[in-house]
Amino acid sequence: AGTSGNTEEKLTAICELLRNSVPYYDWVGFYFKNGDKEELKLRSYAGEPTDHTIIPFGKGICGQVAVSNENFVVPDVKAQDNYIACSIHVKAEVVIPLFVNGENIGQIDIDSHTPDPFTPEDEAFLEYVNRQVATIL
Ligand code: SME
Repeated sequence: AGTSGNTEEKLTAICELLRNSVPYYDWVGFYFKNGDKEELKLRSYAGEPTDHTIIPFGKGICGQVAVSNENFVVPDVKAQDNYIACSIHVKAEVVIPLFVNGENIGQIDIDSHTPDPFTPEDEAFLEYVNRQVATIL
């Protein structure tokens, strides 16, 4: 394992690579459980800065994934009651939990300005990305 500073740089590079490579990935970030607290903390991202750097478990799409341990694909964010809006431009979102030794320790979160863009292939790809990220943490 590298130093934590190096890990931050790698996570940011992964966010930027994903955002620059997929036209409908407009914001890409990694949230992780914040120590012993019942909340997520934003660790790295690419795209517009967000006010939502801390998200309590259960709140929004991210907070729900922290407790469900399951992928959450949102084709239309307007149809979600438990949703935290980061930008008026966002139409869709996908959140994929990140597991280390079977434990849900964080997630990758992607916002899209394109309606309903996320396919099962995106889910499989992002699960793969998270498995790789788990090896550098
Ligand atoms: N929309 C998310 C909040 C994080 S922003 O998308 C960066 C949610 O509802 O949890």
